[in-house]
Amino acid sequence: MILDGKALSEKILEHLKNKIQELNIKAHLVVILVGNDPSSRIYVKNKKKAAERIGIKSTIIEMSSTVSENELLQKIDELNEDSNVTGILVQLPLPEHINKNKVVQAISPKKDVDGFTPENVGKLAIGLEPYFYPATPQGIIMLLDEYNIPLEGADALVIGRSNIVGRPMAQMLLKRNATVTMAHSYTKNLEDKIKTADIVISAVGKKVVRCKMVNRNSVVIDVGIFRDSSGKLTGDVDFDLVSPSVKYITPVPGGVGPMTIASLMYNASKVYH
Ligand code: GUN
Repeated sequence: MILDGKALSEKILEHLKNKIQELNIKAHLVVILVGNDPSSRIYVKNKKKAAERIGIKSTIIEMSSTVSENELLQKIDELNEDSNVTGILVQLPLPEHINKNKVVQAISPKKDVDGFTPENVGKLAIGLEPYFYPATPQGIIMLLDEYNIPLEGADALVIGRSNIVGRPMAQMLLKRNATVTMAHSYTKNLEDKIKTADIVISAVGKKVVRCKMVNRNSVVIDVGIFRDSSGKLTGDVDFDLVSPSVKYITPVPGGVGPMTIASLMYNASKVYH
């Protein structure tokens, strides 16, 4: 069965829209886009569109790829101080001459709607409640919960250890009492680990999940999205091979992607003062 991220994201966005209206929430999301990365441009546009749809004010600040690190840091300081701005998101990747960690660390944790600052990451890691959870893993948890997929005691395999998906995903699954294995480019016998997991979450950007699952109740979540040699959008999972052997699987597109946006909007509608 398909885990329909598109459908759930629509439901969440409608819910948020109503809540923002009823509670008269005044949220303002500022997205900083540095340079001309074509994917980043599309992501940022989609975030703005979703924000406007649900009644969150959004501003895109475009900066040239030659902007200095200091200029960017100054802009973030300004936004931190501006009480009308409730969320700040710096779209990644940044140009090479800019220290990404320094930039992320400059964002006020209470406006860090990506959940990437050390305070929010650290809180998650020691089992405290962060101000914000990273959007993609949070969206995946929302999707698993929607379909009542049990996490407690489940053998969950997370493939990929990025700060944006893999690491926070593993922390969030641990918080829900799953038994978590993290796999990455040095992992031995990946296929054996994939086959026997209850839940596989792949966030690599390459076709790494290409075997049948042993457990008929297993769940496969595909975070990857890229174009194959023929230009078609595809994910980490060989859908045609894997899907007949599982209980639930996410499509690409229409699975994790829309959930990331809905989850980010959930964050952007949270206002801390
Ligand atoms: N680049 C790819 N994914 C993300 C994300 O979730 N947040 C930001 N800021 N940049 C990204």
